[in-house]
Amino acid sequence: MALPKRTFDVVVVGAGGAGMRAALTLSEAGLKVAVLSKVFPTRSHTVAAQGGIAASLGNVNEDNWHWHMYDTVKGSDYLGDQDAIEYMCRAAPEVVYELEHFGMPFDRLDSGKIYQRPFGGHMQDYGKNPVPRACAAADRTGHALLHTLYQQNVKANTNFFVEWMALDLIRDEDGEVLGVVAMEIETSEVMILQARATLFATGGAGRIFQASTNAYINTGDGLGMAARAGIPLEDMEFFQFHPTGVYGSGVLITEGVRGEGGFLVNKDGERFMPRYAPNAKDLASRDVVSRAMATEIKEGRGCGPHGDHVMLKLDHLGDEVIRHRLPGIRDIALKFAHVDPAKAPIPVVPTAHYMMGGIPTNYHGQVVAPHGTGPEDVVQGFYAVGECACVSVHGANRLGCNSLLDLIVFGRAAARQIIEDLKNNPNPKPLPADAADKPLARLARLENQKNGERVADVGDAMRKTMQAHCGVFRFPDLLAEGVSKIREVAERARNTEIKDKSKVFNTARVEALELDNLIEVAQATMTAAAARKESRGAHAREDFPERDDKNWLKHSLYYSEGYRLDYKPVRLKPLTVESFPLKPRVY
Ligand code: FUM
Repeated sequence: MALPKRTFDVVVVGAGGAGMRAALTLSEAGLKVAVLSKVFPTRSHTVAAQGGIAASLGNVNEDNWHWHMYDTVKGSDYLGDQDAIEYMCRAAPEVVYELEHFGMPFDRLDSGKIYQRPFGGHMQDYGKNPVPRACAAADRTGHALLHTLYQQNVKANTNFFVEWMALDLIRDEDGEVLGVVAMEIETSEVMILQARATLFATGGAGRIFQASTNAYINTGDGLGMAARAGIPLEDMEFFQFHPTGVYGSGVLITEGVRGEGGFLVNKDGERFMPRYAPNAKDLASRDVVSRAMATEIKEGRGCGPHGDHVMLKLDHLGDEVIRHRLPGIRDIALKFAHVDPAKAPIPVVPTAHYMMGGIPTNYHGQVVAPHGTGPEDVVQGFYAVGECACVSVHGANRLGCNSLLDLIVFGRAAARQIIEDLKNNPNPKPLPADAADKPLARLARLENQKNGERVADVGDAMRKTMQAHCGVFRFPDLLAEGVSKIREVAERARNTEIKDKSKVFNTARVEALELDNLIEVAQATMTAAAARKESRGAHAREDFPERDDKNWLKHSLYYSEGYRLDYKPVRLKPLTVESFPLKPRVY
């Protein structure tokens, strides 16, 4: 079937912070850039980032990138690659000033400098005392960032394809990536977008879980497409649970609340974090705080009639600080928890938030996947940045505010790499004759399926399975059962039917296509979690409670075909400084 085709220098899939930061540099370099987005660009999930972007500006207290690097290595439970971590932490001040010069409206200190607040795991002097490192625009930092980048992209003439969904990668017989097949959501029109470089910035996949801080659009589309194209997914067992999702709705309450002086209490009104993290207390890293909360709940000190949450207390900060520094949190507390946080605590519970794993890349944003000649082969023409990528700077646990930083640092780095690579690759390569066969077959199956299951029912089964079998604490029997259950759900996903074929918003068709991607991510997460027999960062096993560097200081690689797992070494050698040696991680 002959499909319409458009040709660009670069196709960027995803219009969050990473995609837009990359697109900006690419468009400014005079390249013809298409950015595809399922939603209007400024509704991408980066808009929901609250507390800040990490950079050692030292505007409040002394700080430097070495301390930031140490915290990030330690936060990652030593699974992060130290070359990429050095690259990110060194670049942080520069990329933040760049954002400031693009017009991003950061809050200000009395000195006029960018406002900074403390966040979990960010410390002075190699882990000694909390330091304000999160550069913030109130509690709407992602909103300010995304709007700034969108405006700059409009100025730079980036081409936006709004409400378009990428369906699959196009690879030729040498494995080179030549673009994507995509669908306009409103009309279901399918088109080929041919490009000399394809950059995925498709965000996370928090929607594999029942309770998630993620937007409904976070369905792991980039990971699904990569997995179907034979590319492995790295470190998928590491999924971060943010300590403070609003109980019952999952909406994020920024860690910035604790950075401003808020703290967690149990049903007895006890501030319990000093028992778990005597030094950092409520500002320990997220995996530590989430486990402490889950333990309080498990041991009968949870709040409410079911004892299934704890409370976040911030009334002592006073109405004025709350309205000025945390206006969005005030709104969220009023709307979703029906409490005025200046008067009463907010009920919170650990909630799925961030995927540390993703498409394997180096710190230039190039996708690296074994294809025969070496363990770190670059997939020509293919790049990935942001949450969909695993570079790996977050390792087994991400520090707060390092995600916005990751988007901006590696969005820019990938764009610079693409500009270099395209100098050696001036013309688009011919597309294979079967470029669109697989996505068209998927669409045809959905169209023609009779007596299939509802997509929503299969999606519910997937989310329930992930929530019950792969949570904050992981148990051997539940993991083993989870692997077979999630495979059964995947089988059911192959027989779904679109019950409502009307083209009004086309939500049923889009949800079915998204489910294909979610299922890839869910299977990767469950399979890799069942296989890793140690506890590290966000992966806490009841049967193997200790970190095991001898056997498990390695990245996992999950291949969709045959559910195969492979492993590769962690890059412990930084670019210019000494490696941070492995230590027990205490806060
Ligand atoms: O707590 C927060 O504001 C979230 C930030 C992050 O995930 O980095």
